[in-house]
Amino acid sequence: MRITVDQIKQMKATGEKIAMLTAYDYPTAKLVDAAGVQMILVGDSLGMVVLGYDSTLPVTMDEMLHHTKAVVRGSSRAMVVGDMPFMSYQASLSEAMHNAGRFLKEANCQAVKLEGGERSAEIVRHMVQAGIPVVGHIGLTPQSVNQLSGFRVQGKTPKAAVQLIKDAHALEDAGAFAIVLESIPAPLAKVITERLRVPTIGIGAGPSCDGQVQVFHDIMGLYPDLAPKHAKRYASLAELMQNAIAGYVGEVKRGAFPTAKESYGLDSAAVKELTEIAAL
Ligand code: KIV
Repeated sequence: MRITVDQIKQMKATGEKIAMLTAYDYPTAKLVDAAGVQMILVGDSLGMVVLGYDSTLPVTMDEMLHHTKAVVRGSSRAMVVGDMPFMSYQASLSEAMHNAGRFLKEANCQAVKLEGGERSAEIVRHMVQAGIPVVGHIGLTPQSVNQLSGFRVQGKTPKAAVQLIKDAHALEDAGAFAIVLESIPAPLAKVITERLRVPTIGIGAGPSCDGQVQVFHDIMGLYPDLAPKHAKRYASLAELMQNAIAGYVGEVKRGAFPTAKESYGLDSAAVKELTEIAAL
């Protein structure tokens, strides 16, 4: 049985922190699920960390559904949240409803996430009324990178902070069951967390949030040249993998791989027959 919306909300009430991590494929989902996270986010960060785009803007519904399906197949316990990509919910309410429905009907995930506060509240309300659980996302919203003039910490002025508080309330009132706070000052995240009944899940929003979300590739060190301030590195997988690959290449070149251990044999009668056939 997967973790439910009620269990996530209950965790705020009991003060138990929520651990959320991204995953984009079947093997990673298996590892993340087994490690005990409560929520797996198939983020549109997929575009940048898996597909090699320079922002999340080019990511399509088809790409998101393809990867979300794999993550659902690879997990059995965590709640899987599909991230609605840029322009899958902004143009019209009917398109937003149709695309959110595709995540649950086709990818079989349990919830969707979308960016925006007050401006997205009406869409969230309709989705929730239709039975689609929604995670909100405010602060640094990467789909608005052009509008925000870059990937910058948000909510630093009193006016911007007040707007973020209003955004958080608008999402909660619309029925979002959790809200991601990305790249905002920790004291502001604390205020928002204390004012809301639903859990906040922070990324670059300090320790007071009810939960934390991180991008798998950041915390596993898969991009050694990228070190976002908000991401702690728990492993150096790029180095580990590079060394392993170099080991493989070296052994193939030297003829040290494969050995008899990795080869399939034949019994002596079959070898004799084969030798005779080869001599013809
Ligand atoms: O796409 C993503 O991975 C996200 C997280 C950074 C919250 O939206």
